[in-house]
Amino acid sequence: MIIAIDGPAASGKGTLGKRIAGHLGLAHLDTGLLYRAVGAICLAAGKLEDEAASVEAARALDVTTLDPESLRTGAIGEAASVVAARPGVRAALVDLQRRFAARPEGAVLDGRDIGSVICPDATVKLFVTASPEVRAERRFKELAARDPLASYEAVLADIHKRDERDSSRAAAPLVMASDAVLLDTSNLGIEESFAAALAIVERARG
Ligand code: DC
Repeated sequence: MIIAIDGPAASGKGTLGKRIAGHLGLAHLDTGLLYRAVGAICLAAGKLEDEAASVEAARALDVTTLDPESLRTGAIGEAASVVAARPGVRAALVDLQRRFAARPEGAVLDGRDIGSVICPDATVKLFVTASPEVRAERRFKELAARDPLASYEAVLADIHKRDERDSSRAAAPLVMASDAVLLDTSNLGIEESFAAALAIVERARG
């Protein structure tokens, strides 16, 4: 069983993906981390504007060395969104994601184009979203716990910018697949979102 979870930045799709995978005993891949890793490599090398360097970094990516904690910063998210708009970077990461999904028992993958491009035949497709203000509030709370200078307005502006870039790019833009089920978590807590997502998965499994 392949579960594809897509949605905009800070929609909670990663948390849901992890919970659903744990509950069903399936492996989970947060595909945003792949683009974040490529963005981080380019940032560190001062080559974010260099398309060829980003494609090279994507081709050479070693997924066994990904460190989720260090990749989850606002600056790396922004860099990820820039490199993710490049068709060569996306093409370099397709096989890796499809191989992950092809394990015999299935898998849970979350990202922007899982249901539309990577796993169009997924058993279940969820499109998880929430209003930009709710997503900014959640992200701000996470950041504020670590950084007393974090600003809600800056986080909201960042979310609007990433939504715009991720949705308007020509290569695999963020879209809800026609056969995906929409889950709007604007008014739901984590437990309620998990229960709602699980109900959608169980229904699709029959
Ligand atoms: O989900 P995230 O915030 O970790 O993703 C970081 C960036 O990577 C996001 O702005 C868009 C890009 N991304 C993508 O284009 N396709 C995916 N499947 C996952 C992420």
